[in-house]
Amino acid sequence: MCAAVYLLSAATGYALISVLLLKFPTLLHRRKREQFLGRHISHRGGAGENLENTMAAFKHAVDLGTDMLELDCHLTSDEQVVVSHDANLERISGVRAYISDMCYADLPPYLCKLGVTFQRKCFCEGGEDKRIPLLRDVFEAFPNTPVNIDIKVNNDTLIKKVSELVVKYNREHLTVWGNSSNHIVQKCYKENPDIPVLFSVRRVLMLLGLFYSGLLPFVPLKEQFLEIPMPSIMTNLLNDPDNMTRSRRVILWLADTLLMRRALFNHLTARGIQVYVWVLNDEKEFVRAFDLGATGVMTDYPTKLRDFLENIGSFK
Ligand SMILES: *[C@@H]1O[C@H](CO)[C@@H](O)[C@H](O)[C@H]1NC(C)=O
Ligand SMILES: *[C@@H]1O[C@H](CO)[C@@H](O)[C@H](O)[C@H]1NC(C)=O
Ligand SMILES: *[C@@H]1O[C@H](CO)[C@@H](O)[C@H](O)[C@H]1NC(C)=O
Repeated sequence: MCAAVYLLSAATGYALISVLLLKFPTLLHRRKREQFLGRHISHRGGAGENLENTMAAFKHAVDLGTDMLELDCHLTSDEQVVVSHDANLERISGVRAYISDMCYADLPPYLCKLGVTFQRKCFCEGGEDKRIPLLRDVFEAFPNTPVNIDIKVNNDTLIKKVSELVVKYNREHLTVWGNSSNHIVQKCYKENPDIPVLFSVRRVLMLLGLFYSGLLPFVPLKEQFLEIPMPSIMTNLLNDPDNMTRSRRVILWLADTLLMRRALFNHLTARGIQVYVWVLNDEKEFVRAFDLGATGVMTDYPTKLRDFLENIGSFK
């Protein structure tokens, strides 16, 4: 009897403190200082409006007033950091070769027309600019625009070079980097702890475990950015959404229900950890993400997101 009462009061106490700290995390943690807020983030520079990851795309997005460019990095055989999503050039240029096997000077131009990965049956026709840019070009052209860098290969030289460029262009405060792989994120953090990192997949799972067990409010976090997909959009990407197996459907529903939590987003943002949801190209998805308390949205259609934010009166 006595033990039961003791256990019950301990559990109640734990739950109360956990809920209190979930709501008011700064009672325990110093709020991380945000150097910028990314509400409007252009995925690969806005892959639906210009050829992905080109200077033309980045310029268009920056002219539009985007808060942040999202891009991907690889290393050429002569150790230049280039901005490209794929390791292999086939999809983007028709040339069957790996970036890591070629010198920068030999890289082929983009095709005139590319599929938009996160928008089913959509293609983007580019203008004049078909060049695969260097990361340095982006830093030089947009010295004040925050950039989200996906490190696409587990290569120590790539990580080191990106860090050197970030330092050289004095952009530690304008950068977030990482990868879904925890191994790469750890290497990034070790290489330069002054550049903020995002949560790897393993750390996102850990975050969810902590959140649902009530432990999250007690645990310090080194990451400053949570960048997650909105699982419900995955059905939009299939050619035939009606043909999804029942188990897939259940998994998607579960992932969406577990991940898209207002209480989680609010807790993280109150700790100064920004929450970005990708890759949203549709107005009802924008509404959902911002209603849930996400800091920002990554989109392939920067004009669409700008118009949406202007309409709700929250474009800077
Ligand atoms: C990293 O990339 C460079 C250039 O592509 C390559 O020479 C080197 O072998 C790579 N290192 C690792 C560990 O893969
Ligand atoms: C993470 O790195 C792996 C290679 O290690 C790559 O295949 C993958 O696309 C990267 N993911 C992201 C989100 O950058
Ligand atoms: C559904 O997918 C299966 C295998 O992927 C395929 O064989 C079948 O024809 C598809 N059915 C419809 C209605 O598209």
